[in-house]
Amino acid sequence: MTGGLRVTVTGGAGFIGSNLVSWLLRHPAIGRVTVVDDLSTGSTSLLGGDPAETDFRQGSVLDAGLIEDAVAGADAVVHLAALPSVPRSVADPLATHHANATGTLQVLEAARRAGGPLVVAASSSSVYGAQPDLPKTETSRAMPLSPYAVSKLATEAYLGAYHACYGLEVLPLRFFNVFGPRQRAGHPYAAVVPAFIDAALSGRPVTVHGDGTQTRDWTFVDTVCEVITTAITGRVTSPWPVNLALGTRTSLLDVIALLDQVLDAPVRVEHAPPRPGDVAHSQADPTQLRELFPGVSAVPLREGLECTVAWHQDQHPARSHVDARGSR
Ligand SMILES: NC(=O)c1ccc[n+]([C@@H]2O[C@H](COP(=O)([O-])OP(=O)(O)OC[C@H]3O[C@@H](n4cnc5c(N)ncnc54)[C@H](O)[C@@H]3O)[C@@H](O)[C@H]2O)c1
Repeated sequence: MTGGLRVTVTGGAGFIGSNLVSWLLRHPAIGRVTVVDDLSTGSTSLLGGDPAETDFRQGSVLDAGLIEDAVAGADAVVHLAALPSVPRSVADPLATHHANATGTLQVLEAARRAGGPLVVAASSSSVYGAQPDLPKTETSRAMPLSPYAVSKLATEAYLGAYHACYGLEVLPLRFFNVFGPRQRAGHPYAAVVPAFIDAALSGRPVTVHGDGTQTRDWTFVDTVCEVITTAITGRVTSPWPVNLALGTRTSLLDVIALLDQVLDAPVRVEHAPPRPGDVAHSQADPTQLRELFPGVSAVPLREGLECTVAWHQDQHPARSHVDARGSR
């Protein structure tokens, strides 16, 4: 592959990263994609596109030599590598800090030495934490409730500082609850949508922490990929964090009701105690996102869930709607 923009994606073998790599490889302006991933939660089996088109480097962003090599010559770096779980950060705050905060610093140092590619990085709606305002506006005070949220606040703040101190072009994006194909269940820190789908397809009850009235701004992964791809090809930058969600708000119980419809079977629910660090309500103010990316459009939640359920069924062909229905 020759010509076109060169992009390095950290965490490119993870859920969002692997979807993004597929998007990038389909774009005519993108010439080469390099992936850095230590496979701590990701897998090369998720990597999209033709493997011959992806330069995969297994290792940690904390490895200065490896990341410097992977970023050299890049036009853009998309930094997604992180330990992405709130409960995991509560169990092991230092591991989260090293991977997420120090890891970001290592990527920024590599970018600075490489002569300044655009750096797009994943922050998180969790930085709003106890902030009661709804919707969440970027200028609202961040009130993180978990070590994970603090590590993401550090991520976005480091991007701003590298812009101010070294003139690096940056775009810190606050992802809200992203879901879609390639987001795996079956591990202790699984996100809620794949955990729900996996349980429902296996005929198990879904576990809801708390009463299920907590709300989230669910974002289909294609929306995230579209925004990042547009940022790279159109060189969209902002030293300040930008919400990446479209301002919707749906409760866990309503997501389960939608899954009932998509699976055409009632999903059984069991309740567990609320988790420390969880926030009650989350909804983005999408004004900045719409200004920077006027073409971005939301994928309706039901459509996204249908696509995600289909992916889970492809992974486990033995499971089907009939299995789910028959088990109740
Ligand atoms: N999924 C969401 O809803 C959501 C919400 C907010 C923010 N985010 C952020 O988006 C990014 C991607 O999340 P995801 O949901 O795709 O999670 P994921 O676990 O699927 O992807 C993270 C990837 O990073 C890799 N990784 C972890 N530590 C690494 C290290 N030190 N060096 C190299 N690679 C490393 C993992 O192996 C994995 O492939 C993360 O930064 C996460 O914090 C995700």
